[in-house]
Amino acid sequence: MSPADLDLRQFAVLGLVHEASRVALDYFRKSDSLGITMKGTQDWLTVADGAVEELLRQRLAVLFPQDAIIGEEGGGEAADAVWIIDPIDGTSNFARGDRNWCISIGLLLNGVPEIGIVSAPALDELYLGRRGQGATLNGGPIKVSGGADIGRAYVELGWSTRIPNADYLASVGRALDAGAAVRRAGSGTLGLCHVANGRTDAYAELHINAWDVAAGMVIAGEAGARMNDFFAGDGIRRGNPILCCTPGLVPELERITGIMSRHRDH
Ligand code: IPD
Repeated sequence: MSPADLDLRQFAVLGLVHEASRVALDYFRKSDSLGITMKGTQDWLTVADGAVEELLRQRLAVLFPQDAIIGEEGGGEAADAVWIIDPIDGTSNFARGDRNWCISIGLLLNGVPEIGIVSAPALDELYLGRRGQGATLNGGPIKVSGGADIGRAYVELGWSTRIPNADYLASVGRALDAGAAVRRAGSGTLGLCHVANGRTDAYAELHINAWDVAAGMVIAGEAGARMNDFFAGDGIRRGNPILCCTPGLVPELERITGIMSRHRDH
């Protein structure tokens, strides 16, 4: 795909994400129309997830019919060029009126994340990453914290029922013992974005799905974060562990999480 083809996709999807953000915000503000159901224990679904994904799918299919689409709610198959969509990441926050949620759209070319667009409309924040061209928040450049002292580090450790609690708690214990402050804020995508802008020093999760990280990986990578090779193996279909952190904390975070980090060329 040529740089001009990528430019076209970037600008088209920036417009599209504004439209999707308005739709999602309308649902968020009318909490009685959320139609909340549970896909499983602590696995939340609202009507907004389906509506936003459907809107994105319809528009992308018209704009770029040759590209494949994978979405959290509707699934899909990988291809050389594939959009990976999470219509609402942080659905449990969204359903409870907490503003820490976002819409995540990533473009993967031959397994490499090229464009990442993350909109957190309730926070009025729009992140953009383009491989080789940097990362921005609301148009201004962002970069990782640059910290190297675990005793000052703020580390987010994502949690889901897909991993045994004992394994999660062991990683939390190692992080606390090392001197890190630990949090879990409920959106893996924003977790990566917060590493990118230096609000935290690291995000790690022992299993996460591709739609939770595809866009955030471009943003964090372009902001200077180090990450493991999430798309290795069958990461696109089955998910993988993710470790994303400011470079000076790689060895300590590898030890704490057991996730091997490898710098990708961005
Ligand atoms: C979840 C969130 C959460 C992460 C989970 C994800 P969802 O996605 O990103 O922070 O820990 O692994 O499944 O369900 O809110 O789209």
